Amino acid sequence: MKRRIGILTAGGDCPGLNAAIRGVAKAAYEMFDETEIVGFHDGYRGLIEGDYDEMKRSQFSGILTLGGTILGTSRTPFSNMRVIEDDNVDKVKAMKQTYEKLKLDCLVTLGGNGTHKTANLLSQEGLNVIGLPKTIDNDIYGTDFTFGFHTAVDIATDVIDRIHTTAASHGRCMVIEIMGNKAGWLTLYSGLAGGADVIVLPEIPYDIDKVAEVVERRAKQKKAFSIIAVAEGAMEKSEAKMKRKEREAYRAKQGFTNIAIRMAKQLSEIVGVEARPVIPGHMQRGGSPSAYDRVLSTQFGVHAADLIRDKQYGYTVALSGNQVIHNRLSDIAGVPKLVPLDDQMVALARHMGIIFGD
Ligand code: F6P
Repeated sequence: MKRRIGILTAGGDCPGLNAAIRGVAKAAYEMFDETEIVGFHDGYRGLIEGDYDEMKRSQFSGILTLGGTILGTSRTPFSNMRVIEDDNVDKVKAMKQTYEKLKLDCLVTLGGNGTHKTANLLSQEGLNVIGLPKTIDNDIYGTDFTFGFHTAVDIATDVIDRIHTTAASHGRCMVIEIMGNKAGWLTLYSGLAGGADVIVLPEIPYDIDKVAEVVERRAKQKKAFSIIAVAEGAMEKSEAKMKRKEREAYRAKQGFTNIAIRMAKQLSEIVGVEARPVIPGHMQRGGSPSAYDRVLSTQFGVHAADLIRDKQYGYTVALSGNQVIHNRLSDIAGVPKLVPLDDQMVALARHMGIIFGD
């Protein structure tokens, strides 16, 4: 049996991409008499422009623990895929041509929501596509976890832990901004793991006075410090009613680039405490994957190879309970998985006295 497999990583990177690539490749080399792997550079850009490598088996060794992606990545927005821009390139046509020219049996795409939407488009255009769900945001529908998420939770928790000790020494209020523009999973999990007093998510618009009450109450109880974990995409109740452009203009007028900076300033003004913002940013996406993510990425990669063997295309791999499964791309593409308001973890946090600011 011979398989010629194209593979690419698209969108924001995360730990575990190389482990997943390795999982696909190692399983494929074991499974098929002849395996050829074509690695596209920088995500869909490589597929559009025909920028690729005929990979050697040795390139998949020694990468299990490596952060980032050996293939490189880029953001090619799904909304632009059908748009002919100044370069006059029909991107969908170009991707199909590259796939056909290289005589691929299938294409494996590792990515988040945007990547899955394009994967679904290519599948509908007749290409044999298999998706693998990665993102530190954990916001892909149909899978309990994406790879990259647990490593980011570990990193963000470590940040909160370290901030905790210095906050306690100085009696400060520390506002820690965790990545996640639309989905608050990373803030929820790391906030819980790091023992935050307040957790603010994009899905639950907040009232700054409610956050201030907590900080004030703790100060009065002689717990002079407070830890606030806020998602980068969190918004005030009044902002939640605005359209995105309007909200951006409103914030620009206030002169804030980051939610943590604004919140720290507001809290020092309202409560009179010393409040400091902390923004770990892309640190949350860097470095070696955790043991959990190495295993999950490997499981996902090997499952993708199984699908290739069985010629089952048009699917993305997922975790459900403890089982690795696959969902139809058409069922999950474009459906973000946000934190539900009645989520068990949110309820649990509320039972413990953690405030969401609503
Ligand atoms: O999707 C992962 C993520 O890190 C989000 O949490 C964040 O909002 C976004 O990517 C940042 O993207 P970029 O690296 O392109 O600034």
